[in-house]
Amino acid sequence: MPEWLNALPKAELHLHLEGSLEPELLFALAERNQIALPWADVETLRAAYAFNNLQEFLDLYYAGANVLRTEQDFYDLTWAYLQRCKAQNVIHVEPFFDPQTHTDRGIPFEVVLRGIQQALLDGEKQLGISHGLILSFLRHLPEEEAFKTLEQAMPFRDAFIGVGLDSSEKGFPPRLFERVFAKARSEGLHAVAHAGEEGPPEYIWEALGLLKIKRIDHGVRAIEDERLMQRIIDEQIPLTVCPLSNIKLCVFEHMGQHNILEMLERGVKVTVNSDDPAYFGGYVGENFAALHEHLGMTEAQAKRLAQNSLDARLA
Ligand code: HPA
Ligand code: ZN
Repeated sequence: MPEWLNALPKAELHLHLEGSLEPELLFALAERNQIALPWADVETLRAAYAFNNLQEFLDLYYAGANVLRTEQDFYDLTWAYLQRCKAQNVIHVEPFFDPQTHTDRGIPFEVVLRGIQQALLDGEKQLGISHGLILSFLRHLPEEEAFKTLEQAMPFRDAFIGVGLDSSEKGFPPRLFERVFAKARSEGLHAVAHAGEEGPPEYIWEALGLLKIKRIDHGVRAIEDERLMQRIIDEQIPLTVCPLSNIKLCVFEHMGQHNILEMLERGVKVTVNSDDPAYFGGYVGENFAALHEHLGMTEAQAKRLAQNSLDARLA
Protein backbone atom coordinates (compact mmCIF):
# COMPACT_ATOMS: atom_id res chain seq x y z
CA MET A 1 0.00 0.00 0.00
CA PRO A 2 1.40 3.46 -0.84
CA GLU A 3 2.68 5.22 2.29
CA TRP A 4 0.62 8.37 1.59
CA LEU A 5 -2.56 6.25 1.75
CA ASN A 6 -1.51 4.59 4.96
CA ALA A 7 -0.66 7.95 6.53
CA LEU A 8 -4.10 9.53 5.93
CA PRO A 9 -6.09 9.76 9.19
CA LYS A 10 -9.26 7.72 8.68
CA ALA A 11 -12.39 6.55 10.50
CA GLU A 12 -13.95 3.14 9.93
CA LEU A 13 -17.76 3.22 10.10
CA HIS A 14 -18.75 -0.17 8.67
CA LEU A 15 -16.99 -3.12 10.28
CA HIS A 16 -18.50 -6.26 11.76
CA LEU A 17 -16.28 -7.39 14.63
CA GLU A 18 -17.19 -11.01 13.91
CA GLY A 19 -15.99 -10.41 10.36
CA SER A 20 -12.53 -9.43 11.60
CA LEU A 21 -11.93 -12.96 12.92
CA GLU A 22 -8.81 -14.02 11.02
CA PRO A 23 -8.43 -17.78 10.33
CA GLU A 24 -5.34 -17.97 12.58
CA LEU A 25 -7.26 -16.56 15.57
CA LEU A 26 -10.26 -18.72 14.70
CA PHE A 27 -8.09 -21.85 14.96
CA ALA A 28 -6.39 -20.61 18.15
CA LEU A 29 -9.76 -19.97 19.84
CA ALA A 30 -11.09 -23.35 18.69
CA GLU A 31 -8.12 -24.99 20.37
CA ARG A 32 -8.45 -22.89 23.53
CA ASN A 33 -12.15 -23.77 23.78
CA GLN A 34 -11.70 -27.39 22.63
CA ILE A 35 -14.03 -27.04 19.67
CA ALA A 36 -13.71 -29.42 16.70
CA LEU A 37 -13.66 -27.55 13.38
CA PRO A 38 -14.95 -28.77 10.00
CA TRP A 39 -11.78 -27.43 8.28
CA ALA A 40 -8.45 -29.29 8.41
CA ASP A 41 -6.28 -26.17 8.75
CA VAL A 42 -6.00 -22.42 8.16
CA GLU A 43 -5.27 -22.89 4.45
CA THR A 44 -8.35 -25.07 3.91
CA LEU A 45 -10.52 -22.51 5.66
CA ARG A 46 -9.05 -19.63 3.63
CA ALA A 47 -9.67 -21.59 0.45
CA ALA A 48 -13.37 -21.69 1.38
CA TYR A 49 -13.55 -17.88 1.19
CA ALA A 50 -15.06 -17.86 -2.31
CA PHE A 51 -18.62 -16.57 -2.42
CA ASN A 52 -21.26 -16.06 -5.12
CA ASN A 53 -23.51 -13.86 -2.99
CA LEU A 54 -24.14 -12.46 0.50
CA GLN A 55 -25.84 -15.62 1.81
CA GLU A 56 -22.92 -17.91 0.95
CA PHE A 57 -20.65 -15.60 2.93
CA LEU A 58 -23.07 -15.34 5.87
CA ASP A 59 -23.26 -19.14 6.21
CA LEU A 60 -19.47 -19.28 6.74
CA TYR A 61 -19.38 -16.12 8.89
CA TYR A 62 -21.92 -17.53 11.36
CA ALA A 63 -20.09 -20.89 11.40
CA GLY A 64 -16.81 -19.11 12.18
CA ALA A 65 -18.36 -17.10 15.02
CA ASN A 66 -19.04 -20.38 16.83
CA VAL A 67 -15.49 -20.37 18.27
CA LEU A 68 -16.22 -17.16 20.22
CA ARG A 69 -17.27 -18.29 23.69
CA THR A 70 -15.68 -16.33 26.53
CA GLU A 71 -15.24 -12.68 27.46
CA GLN A 72 -11.53 -13.13 26.70
CA ASP A 73 -12.37 -14.39 23.18
CA PHE A 74 -14.38 -11.25 22.42
CA TYR A 75 -11.61 -9.14 23.92
CA ASP A 76 -8.95 -10.83 21.77
CA LEU A 77 -11.08 -10.47 18.62
CA THR A 78 -11.63 -6.75 19.18
CA TRP A 79 -8.05 -6.09 20.25
CA ALA A 80 -6.64 -7.76 17.12
CA TYR A 81 -8.87 -5.51 14.98
CA LEU A 82 -7.72 -2.38 16.81
CA GLN A 83 -4.07 -3.30 16.23
CA ARG A 84 -4.78 -3.40 12.48
CA CYS A 85 -6.44 0.00 12.76
CA LYS A 86 -3.41 1.45 14.53
CA ALA A 87 -1.09 0.19 11.78
CA GLN A 88 -3.22 1.90 9.10
CA ASN A 89 -3.89 5.22 10.84
CA VAL A 90 -7.54 4.49 11.52
CA ILE A 91 -8.08 6.88 14.41
CA HIS A 92 -11.79 6.31 15.08
CA VAL A 93 -14.00 3.21 14.77
CA GLU A 94 -17.75 2.59 14.96
CA PRO A 95 -17.92 -1.21 14.78
CA PHE A 96 -20.98 -3.45 14.71
CA PHE A 97 -21.51 -6.60 16.68
CA ASP A 98 -24.33 -9.12 16.26
CA PRO A 99 -25.54 -10.10 19.76
CA GLN A 100 -28.08 -12.62 18.44
CA THR A 101 -25.34 -14.68 16.76
CA HIS A 102 -24.03 -15.36 20.26
CA THR A 103 -27.04 -15.27 22.57
CA ASP A 104 -28.78 -17.84 20.32
CA ARG A 105 -25.85 -20.19 21.09
CA GLY A 106 -26.25 -19.66 24.83
CA ILE A 107 -23.50 -17.06 25.30
CA PRO A 108 -24.79 -14.39 27.70
CA PHE A 109 -25.15 -10.88 26.24
CA GLU A 110 -22.99 -9.54 29.04
CA VAL A 111 -20.07 -11.84 28.19
CA VAL A 112 -20.03 -10.59 24.59
CA LEU A 113 -20.39 -6.96 25.52
CA ARG A 114 -17.87 -6.90 28.36
CA GLY A 115 -15.10 -8.40 26.22
CA ILE A 116 -15.70 -6.00 23.34
CA GLN A 117 -16.10 -2.98 25.58
CA GLN A 118 -12.91 -3.63 27.56
CA ALA A 119 -10.86 -3.92 24.36
CA LEU A 120 -12.38 -0.69 22.98
CA LEU A 121 -11.55 1.13 26.23
CA ASP A 122 -7.98 -0.23 26.18
CA GLY A 123 -7.75 0.79 22.51
CA GLU A 124 -8.64 4.33 23.46
CA LYS A 125 -6.08 4.45 26.30
CA GLN A 126 -3.21 2.51 24.74
CA LEU A 127 -3.63 3.13 21.00
CA GLY A 128 -5.45 6.48 20.97
CA ILE A 129 -8.34 5.10 18.88
CA SER A 130 -11.76 6.55 19.78
CA HIS A 131 -14.93 4.51 19.28
CA GLY A 132 -18.70 4.20 19.26
CA LEU A 133 -20.19 0.70 19.37
CA ILE A 134 -23.27 -0.24 17.28
CA LEU A 135 -25.57 -3.14 18.15
CA SER A 136 -26.84 -4.76 14.98
CA PHE A 137 -30.08 -6.74 14.67
CA LEU A 138 -30.17 -9.82 12.42
CA ARG A 139 -32.88 -9.18 9.84
CA HIS A 140 -33.45 -12.84 8.96
CA LEU A 141 -34.88 -13.25 12.48
CA PRO A 142 -38.29 -11.84 13.54
CA GLU A 143 -38.66 -8.31 14.92
CA GLU A 144 -39.78 -9.88 18.19
CA GLU A 145 -36.25 -11.28 18.62
CA ALA A 146 -34.75 -7.86 17.94
CA PHE A 147 -36.98 -6.42 20.70
CA LYS A 148 -35.64 -9.05 23.11
CA THR A 149 -32.07 -8.15 22.16
CA LEU A 150 -32.73 -4.45 22.71
CA GLU A 151 -34.19 -5.27 26.12
CA GLN A 152 -31.06 -7.28 27.03
CA ALA A 153 -28.93 -4.35 25.94
CA MET A 154 -30.67 -1.61 27.91
CA PRO A 155 -28.87 -2.27 31.23
CA PHE A 156 -25.70 -1.44 29.23
CA ARG A 157 -27.23 1.52 27.40
CA ASP A 158 -24.12 3.69 27.81
CA ALA A 159 -21.94 1.14 26.01
CA PHE A 160 -23.65 1.91 22.65
CA ILE A 161 -24.18 4.78 20.31
CA GLY A 162 -26.72 3.12 18.05
CA VAL A 163 -28.44 0.19 16.43
CA GLY A 164 -27.96 -1.31 12.97
CA LEU A 165 -29.57 -3.91 10.74
CA ASP A 166 -27.60 -6.62 8.95
CA SER A 167 -27.62 -10.22 7.64
CA SER A 168 -29.62 -11.49 4.63
CA GLU A 169 -31.05 -8.45 2.85
CA LYS A 170 -33.28 -9.72 0.04
CA GLY A 171 -36.73 -10.65 1.34
CA PHE A 172 -36.13 -8.88 4.66
CA PRO A 173 -36.98 -5.21 4.00
CA PRO A 174 -36.39 -2.47 6.58
CA ARG A 175 -40.13 -1.96 7.11
CA LEU A 176 -40.21 -5.23 9.11
CA PHE A 177 -38.16 -3.47 11.84
CA GLU A 178 -39.94 -0.11 12.04
CA ARG A 179 -41.19 -0.60 15.61
CA VAL A 180 -37.97 -1.82 17.18
CA PHE A 181 -36.03 1.01 15.55
CA ALA A 182 -38.58 3.52 16.91
CA LYS A 183 -38.03 2.06 20.38
CA ALA A 184 -34.23 2.27 20.01
CA ARG A 185 -34.46 5.88 18.85
CA SER A 186 -36.71 6.73 21.79
CA GLU A 187 -33.81 5.58 24.01
CA GLY A 188 -31.56 8.12 22.32
CA LEU A 189 -29.77 5.62 20.11
CA HIS A 190 -28.72 6.51 16.56
CA ALA A 191 -30.06 4.36 13.74
CA VAL A 192 -28.13 2.97 10.77
CA ALA A 193 -29.00 0.06 8.47
CA HIS A 194 -27.59 -2.05 5.67
CA ALA A 195 -29.62 -1.18 2.57
CA GLY A 196 -28.99 -1.30 -1.14
CA GLU A 197 -26.16 -3.86 -1.01
CA GLU A 198 -28.09 -6.67 -2.77
CA GLY A 199 -31.52 -5.17 -2.11
CA PRO A 200 -33.24 -2.58 -4.34
CA PRO A 201 -33.30 1.22 -3.92
CA GLU A 202 -36.76 0.82 -2.37
CA TYR A 203 -35.08 -0.65 0.72
CA ILE A 204 -32.96 2.51 1.05
CA TRP A 205 -36.12 4.67 0.88
CA GLU A 206 -37.66 2.53 3.62
CA ALA A 207 -34.56 2.70 5.83
CA LEU A 208 -34.55 6.49 5.53
CA GLY A 209 -38.30 7.04 5.81
CA LEU A 210 -39.33 4.36 8.31
CA LEU A 211 -36.19 3.56 10.33
CA LYS A 212 -34.98 7.18 10.18
CA ILE A 213 -31.36 6.17 9.71
CA LYS A 214 -28.44 8.60 9.94
CA ARG A 215 -26.17 6.62 7.59
CA ILE A 216 -26.73 4.02 4.90
CA ASP A 217 -24.53 0.92 5.12
CA HIS A 218 -23.46 -0.03 1.57
CA GLY A 219 -26.14 1.86 -0.42
CA VAL A 220 -24.36 1.31 -3.73
CA ARG A 221 -27.64 0.49 -5.51
CA ALA A 222 -28.88 4.04 -4.82
CA ILE A 223 -27.34 4.90 -8.18
CA GLU A 224 -30.26 3.10 -9.91
CA ASP A 225 -32.75 5.71 -8.62
CA GLU A 226 -32.16 9.32 -9.64
CA ARG A 227 -34.66 10.77 -7.14
CA LEU A 228 -32.94 8.85 -4.33
CA MET A 229 -29.53 10.09 -5.50
CA GLN A 230 -30.80 13.67 -5.33
CA ARG A 231 -32.04 13.14 -1.77
CA ILE A 232 -28.82 11.64 -0.44
CA ILE A 233 -26.80 14.38 -2.15
CA ASP A 234 -29.09 17.20 -0.95
CA GLU A 235 -29.18 15.90 2.62
CA GLN A 236 -25.54 14.70 2.58
CA ILE A 237 -26.56 11.33 4.03
CA PRO A 238 -23.35 9.30 4.39
CA LEU A 239 -22.89 5.94 2.65
CA THR A 240 -20.51 3.43 4.25
CA VAL A 241 -19.23 1.71 1.12
CA CYS A 242 -17.15 -1.48 1.29
CA PRO A 243 -15.38 -2.00 -2.05
CA LEU A 244 -13.57 -5.32 -1.47
CA SER A 245 -16.72 -6.76 0.10
CA ASN A 246 -18.75 -5.78 -2.96
CA ILE A 247 -16.35 -7.64 -5.25
CA LYS A 248 -16.13 -10.75 -3.03
CA LEU A 249 -19.94 -10.93 -2.82
CA CYS A 250 -20.40 -10.25 -6.56
CA VAL A 251 -22.28 -6.96 -6.16
CA PHE A 252 -19.90 -5.75 -8.89
CA GLU A 253 -18.00 -8.10 -11.14
CA HIS A 254 -14.66 -6.25 -11.08
CA MET A 255 -13.27 -3.39 -8.99
CA GLY A 256 -12.97 -1.46 -12.24
CA GLN A 257 -16.78 -1.36 -12.35
CA HIS A 258 -17.29 -0.07 -8.80
CA ASN A 259 -19.32 3.14 -8.58
CA ILE A 260 -17.78 4.72 -5.45
CA LEU A 261 -15.74 7.38 -7.27
CA GLU A 262 -18.64 8.22 -9.60
CA MET A 263 -20.76 8.76 -6.49
CA LEU A 264 -18.01 10.85 -4.89
CA GLU A 265 -17.77 13.07 -7.96
CA ARG A 266 -21.54 13.52 -8.01
CA GLY A 267 -21.39 14.88 -4.44
CA VAL A 268 -22.50 11.82 -2.47
CA LYS A 269 -20.91 11.60 0.99
CA VAL A 270 -19.29 8.19 0.44
CA THR A 271 -16.78 6.59 2.81
CA VAL A 272 -14.41 3.59 2.49
CA ASN A 273 -14.78 0.64 4.86
CA SER A 274 -13.78 -3.02 5.13
CA ASP A 275 -17.06 -4.73 6.29
CA ASP A 276 -15.59 -8.19 7.12
CA PRO A 277 -11.86 -7.82 6.49
CA ALA A 278 -10.85 -11.36 7.47
CA TYR A 279 -13.15 -12.75 4.78
CA PHE A 280 -12.89 -10.13 2.03
CA GLY A 281 -9.16 -9.66 1.62
CA GLY A 282 -8.27 -6.59 3.59
CA TYR A 283 -8.78 -3.78 6.05
CA VAL A 284 -9.53 -0.12 5.31
CA GLY A 285 -6.04 0.44 3.93
CA GLU A 286 -6.33 -2.39 1.40
CA ASN A 287 -9.73 -1.03 0.34
CA PHE A 288 -8.22 2.40 -0.37
CA ALA A 289 -5.32 0.74 -2.18
CA ALA A 290 -7.72 -1.22 -4.42
CA LEU A 291 -9.47 2.01 -5.45
CA HIS A 292 -6.11 3.54 -6.28
CA GLU A 293 -5.02 0.52 -8.29
CA HIS A 294 -8.21 -0.31 -10.20
CA LEU A 295 -10.12 2.98 -10.41
CA GLY A 296 -7.23 5.43 -10.53
CA MET A 297 -8.29 7.15 -7.31
CA THR A 298 -6.19 10.29 -6.96
CA GLU A 299 -4.60 11.59 -3.79
CA ALA A 300 -7.18 14.42 -3.71
CA GLN A 301 -10.04 11.92 -3.96
CA ALA A 302 -8.50 9.76 -1.21
CA LYS A 303 -8.30 12.80 1.04
CA ARG A 304 -11.96 13.63 0.44
CA LEU A 305 -12.99 10.03 1.16
CA ALA A 306 -10.97 10.02 4.39
CA GLN A 307 -12.39 13.40 5.42
CA ASN A 308 -15.92 12.12 4.70
CA SER A 309 -15.32 9.25 7.12
CA LEU A 310 -14.30 11.68 9.85
CA ASP A 311 -17.29 13.95 9.11
CA ALA A 312 -19.75 11.03 9.15
CA ARG A 313 -18.89 9.92 12.69
CA LEU A 314 -21.82 9.51 15.06
CA ALA A 315 -19.62 9.41 18.19
N1 HPA B 1 -24.18 -7.53 4.73
C1 HPA B 1 -25.13 -7.98 5.55
N2 HPA B 1 -24.86 -8.56 6.71
C2 HPA B 1 -23.58 -8.69 7.08
C3 HPA B 1 -22.57 -8.24 6.27
C4 HPA B 1 -22.89 -7.62 5.04
O1 HPA B 1 -22.04 -7.18 4.25
N3 HPA B 1 -21.41 -8.54 6.92
C5 HPA B 1 -21.74 -9.12 8.09
N4 HPA B 1 -23.06 -9.23 8.19
ZN1 ZN C 1 -21.80 -4.99 6.58
